[in-house]
Amino acid sequence: MVNAIILAGGYGTRLRPITCSIPKPMMPVINQPLLKMIIQKLLQEIQLNKVVIAVNYRAHDIEAYMNEWQKELSCEIHVQDERKPLGTGGALKFSQALLDDDRFFMLNGDVISFFSYTNMLEQHKETNAMATISAIRVPDVSRYGVLVSDKNSNLIRDFYEKPRTTELIKKYSIYPVNAGTYLLEPAIFDFMEPEKKISIEKDVFPKVAKQDVAYKFEFSGIWKDFGLPEEYLAGNFIILDEETKRLGVENIIDESVQIGEGTTINPPVCFDRDVRIGENCTIGPNVILGNGVQVGNDVTISESVFLENCYIENNNEIIRVIMGDGVKTGTDVHLVGPAIMGSNVYVDDQVTLIAVSNQTVKICPWVTLTVESVENASSNGAFIH
Ligand code: GDD
Ligand code: MG
Repeated sequence: MVNAIILAGGYGTRLRPITCSIPKPMMPVINQPLLKMIIQKLLQEIQLNKVVIAVNYRAHDIEAYMNEWQKELSCEIHVQDERKPLGTGGALKFSQALLDDDRFFMLNGDVISFFSYTNMLEQHKETNAMATISAIRVPDVSRYGVLVSDKNSNLIRDFYEKPRTTELIKKYSIYPVNAGTYLLEPAIFDFMEPEKKISIEKDVFPKVAKQDVAYKFEFSGIWKDFGLPEEYLAGNFIILDEETKRLGVENIIDESVQIGEGTTINPPVCFDRDVRIGENCTIGPNVILGNGVQVGNDVTISESVFLENCYIENNNEIIRVIMGDGVKTGTDVHLVGPAIMGSNVYVDDQVTLIAVSNQTVKICPWVTLTVESVENASSNGAFIH
């Protein structure tokens, strides 16, 4: 039976400060860890007997969660800690012994794709490929791996990771890019030496492509990378939209949630266990509230994601903000992002913070924002610590 390996060792630096306390693969997407969403999507279609999660830091946090979740599943989950980052190829090689000697899916642990894994598997078998790589067209190829292929064939002729110069970008813009899901045959391991730092994109795929055994599997559906704060927000909203459609509901609201009189909910929203919302609020669209979040009266929230146990006082207006665990605000607070707040930030009464020209404001964990500190910070760029 098919195995899968998820590459989840990146540090998520661009999502700091939240990723200082939560490993990036465990960042919640509509209140579920990203890794769980990725594995669940694959399991909805493909019967897997084993999933390996390749990490190199915070393995215990991930393992604790996965051990619990595994009890509900019929497949084994192994968290493989390579201890020092070996790169995407090195991490795969390090996990070779854990995988059965058969074809396997490999997935980047920071993207969610919507396409048929069954169709990908079918194409892989038909073409007798050693590697099938999911492919999508994007407006800017410079952040991705380009799959050079002929117009009327899926055969990949070359793989070029992140073309940076204007000339290269122009040259490669006509091709689709690597969307981060792969189907691989065990023969791929022959291209990798053990215990070495290897980039599968730079060191392996170009060589495999030269042997005419790599094919692209192109799709045009939804594909979301969770690298940047804006992408994290947009990704949550896209997945919320998809999930509400799939479930045939307007909102995803846990039955324990309490909502006060006169409050309007603009769909879609997603509220986890024990969320409490006061009176005369307007919440949504696109608001995701984690376990135990409490909101006072006369509060407006839209386009935002709050992690667990945030506490919002009366008369707040909050737009496009990501809040880490336990963020608290006082009364009469106005926050207009994009903004990302580390855990346990306290925003004092009367604070108004508005991101200038769409530049994300980042606030370190445990910081207290006061009217004065915000005034000083605005002349100091967008990182408040
Ligand atoms: N275990 C482990 N060890 N995982 C790693 C390591 C490592 O040393 N380095 C990166 N990863 C994981 C990351 O956590 C991520 O899930 C995946 O491998 C890809 O690494 P990124 O660092 O996120 O790469 P990228 O986003 O710049 O580019 C990759 O993804 C694009 C699609 O989003 C490449 O695969 C591109 O070709 C691709 O287009
Ligand atoms: Mg990435």
